[in-house]
Amino acid sequence: MARFAYVNGRYVDHRSAHVHIEDRGYQLADGVYEVVGVRDGKLIDETPHLDRLARSLTELRIGWPVSRTTLSFIIRELMRRNHLRDGLVYMQVTRGVARRDHAFPTTPVKPALVVTTKNTKRLDGNPGPGVAIKTQPDIRWERCDIKTVALLPNVLAKQAARESGAYEAWFIDNEGRVTEGASTNAWIVTAEGELITRHTDNGILAGITRQTLKTLATQLQLKFVERPFTLVEAKRAKEAFITSATSFVTPVVKIDGEPVGDGIPGPTGRRLREEYVRFAALGDPVT
Ligand code: PDD
Repeated sequence: MARFAYVNGRYVDHRSAHVHIEDRGYQLADGVYEVVGVRDGKLIDETPHLDRLARSLTELRIGWPVSRTTLSFIIRELMRRNHLRDGLVYMQVTRGVARRDHAFPTTPVKPALVVTTKNTKRLDGNPGPGVAIKTQPDIRWERCDIKTVALLPNVLAKQAARESGAYEAWFIDNEGRVTEGASTNAWIVTAEGELITRHTDNGILAGITRQTLKTLATQLQLKFVERPFTLVEAKRAKEAFITSATSFVTPVVKIDGEPVGDGIPGPTGRRLREEYVRFAALGDPVT
């Protein structure tokens, strides 16, 4: 079965899909992206993901390559062509193709748009055995709120985690506080049962899953606080977990080799994952 990618106006065979060598995304990481989860053929939280794309584009002064309505259509058409039931939609917008110069092109350039899909295992309410975390110094820039394709520190942190047998890396700031994961937001549950995740500002990406979980936690009347938490607190926590469009809510059972709580997925993380899966099922069917 042929798999398609959307590249600058055309649905092309994924294996031979390509962009120009002077695309500013390729040369300068001058671009932004979004990842939207898909479950049972339904896009999860499409609207807030496109809102965040709009914000990222505005922050970098990149125009929309197509209208937002058209992008929504392209996403659906690609899902249909690729028979996507469970997985993700990836979309990337770069400033476009121009003769290499760090400054923005002085003549008008059309932003470049690529959309792809990826099949993954269907996630359900069962979180599995949980994952291990390796901590890494947060060496990223001061605009982590923009979802740019400039992900080298995230790549290196994730690789360090994988080489140590861990699944995800948690970035630690200069004051010993956890900012977020290499591609996820970080949460803990304290001994007092308080659910904590770092507040959003330029230091982390405002995760869409994080935002939805915040709403679900409020509905469940959980004690929820947005504040920085330290690595020491995380190691003493009753539970910890990560959230993202592709991992939903995944329990953290080990941090730097030390067990979190009982070293198995805890009740709060399990409950929130079930609630999130229930929420995901409410989306509009696309295929
Ligand atoms: N990553 N923090 C970072 C640095 C991320 O890259 C992501 C998402 C998140 C979680 O955001 P959301 O809940 O909106 O997925 C937090 C995506 C999945 C990726 O890069 O593949």
